[in-house]
Amino acid sequence: MRQFGARIPAIGTPMTIHGIALLHDSTTNKSTAFTQQERDAEGLTGLLPSAIETLDAQLKRCLWQLDKKDSDIERYIYLMQLSDDNQTLFFKVVASDPARFIPIMYDPTIAAACLEFGEIYRKPNGIYMSIAQRGKVKDVLSNWPEKDVRVICVSTGGRILGLGDIGANGMGIPIGKLQLYTACAGVPPGGLLPVLLDCGTENEKLRADPFYLGLRQKRASTADLDSFFEEFVEAVQQLYPKCCLHFEDWKGTDAERLLKKYTNRICCYNDDIQGTGSVVLAGVYNALKITKGKLEDQRVLFFGAGSAAIGIANTLVAAMELEGLSEAAARERISLFDLDGLIEPLRTRLTPDQQRYVHPHAPTKKILEAIASIKPTILIGVSTVGGAFAKDVVEAMTKLNPRPIIFALSNPTDKAECTAEQAYAWSEGKAAFAGGVQFPPVKLNGKTYRPGQANNFYIYPAMGLAIFATEAKRAPDALFVEAAKALAAQVDHDGLAKGMLFPPQKDILAVEVKTAVAVANKVFELGLARVDKPADVAAWVQSLLYKPQYAEPAIGRH
Ligand code: NAI
Repeated sequence: MRQFGARIPAIGTPMTIHGIALLHDSTTNKSTAFTQQERDAEGLTGLLPSAIETLDAQLKRCLWQLDKKDSDIERYIYLMQLSDDNQTLFFKVVASDPARFIPIMYDPTIAAACLEFGEIYRKPNGIYMSIAQRGKVKDVLSNWPEKDVRVICVSTGGRILGLGDIGANGMGIPIGKLQLYTACAGVPPGGLLPVLLDCGTENEKLRADPFYLGLRQKRASTADLDSFFEEFVEAVQQLYPKCCLHFEDWKGTDAERLLKKYTNRICCYNDDIQGTGSVVLAGVYNALKITKGKLEDQRVLFFGAGSAAIGIANTLVAAMELEGLSEAAARERISLFDLDGLIEPLRTRLTPDQQRYVHPHAPTKKILEAIASIKPTILIGVSTVGGAFAKDVVEAMTKLNPRPIIFALSNPTDKAECTAEQAYAWSEGKAAFAGGVQFPPVKLNGKTYRPGQANNFYIYPAMGLAIFATEAKRAPDALFVEAAKALAAQVDHDGLAKGMLFPPQKDILAVEVKTAVAVANKVFELGLARVDKPADVAAWVQSLLYKPQYAEPAIGRH
């Protein structure tokens, strides 16, 4: 059986394929960096131009070619092609400037890439498991060539970003998310598997699209989805017993139900729920350093009560419990407001998760009324309603609090409840602000503010690295609270003074590895690891990282 990540030859190990096949396998291809000796020994002479280049010279060419592209979607297509051709060079390019490339590989460019998935499709890059394969799920999964898969990012395409149900076109998301595991946290790519569970789509326009690549049928019933997923989980357990399932962009109700069903049974987590909760908690921890408040004293009002709100609320409750509050007392500090107004006892058609946050209050459909009576210290927008935090909302928060905490997390930018500039201007620079998108720096009264982006990419790659290293049996909320604390601790005093709630994206790899070390320690502490604890956890995690560099020549040893 192949060892983990064995398709990437470790430095000095023999190459197992020969000749042009070496150029066609993205994990062995060095392209113009093959030495003359290697070219002679591996039957590559004449298959490459004469020049022999270093990885750095190849990087320069890629950056030059990327600069020539007219749009980010073209840069995305270029990068995906590069990833298919030469994995090392692809990760080298991304590592050269993460703050520049993350938004191209992922949010916001990925939204356009998913919408055009059928048009720009080149290679499958993962497993497409159709519900028509029920009864044969294990056989289909066995077709994947790697035998030691450690993280599967699995989506049904049921609710992709703000795009809704886009069926099989959603595959761009698991592919992109897993690339960030490696790019942001050094998780070896050989053990990462993107999976799209194709259960049909309610999107009629897509079903009629000649380029659509998924099943052209309506979505399966909940019962059918659940039994299909159960078979999938069983197959994963049998084929890849060390594997963690990362749920991504499922329809909200499916996401909540299945996370509850499996969280105590297998190693799994839902990034939209727990990853979001964790990154926002990190932002709250740092905002509290600015406002000099304590978490257990806060009153939090959510504008929007969907899966993001529930995930953040549940993580805040878990964190408050760790500070000594009872669960009931923690829940009392959190109120939800949605399309139908404040969630209060007379509201009907609430999900079980929403019901946990019902508190005595008169019905109201006006956010200003809710703010006036609840007196929140923290206002979090996860509503998808652009501009919902108008001037009067920010002013009301500023009147109630010397330093209001205002997070406008909906994205893309036109969906943000307010911009960073508005939050700072309308609060006269008092707001501790985070956005769901990266807003540019804001100049106000001679001071420059650097608004943070509460993006999950600060958390889930680190979580993946910690789980990969420790072979964790479960991924409970306590790990996400630990990740939030470790992330928050990496913003220094100067950063906080500029309003930064998250570390700079340019340092992402170092930040995530530090976070992963903290989470790995927590996994050991909770007795959830399947490996023995090493003496130096930080050095051990470092030693496991994937590095974008070519294997040294292993001439004539195959
Ligand atoms: P969702 O569709 O599950 O929930 C949206 C919620 O907003 C629903 O409760 C709905 O009733 C409420 N809503 C809609 N219109 C409203 C109105 N006019 N007034 C009050 N409430 C209204 O969506 P989900 O997954 O919860 O995501 C919400 C937003 O948060 C999205 O834009 C998403 O991109 C963003 N998000 C940001 C994250 C981050 O910054 N890290 C992570 C996850 C989501």
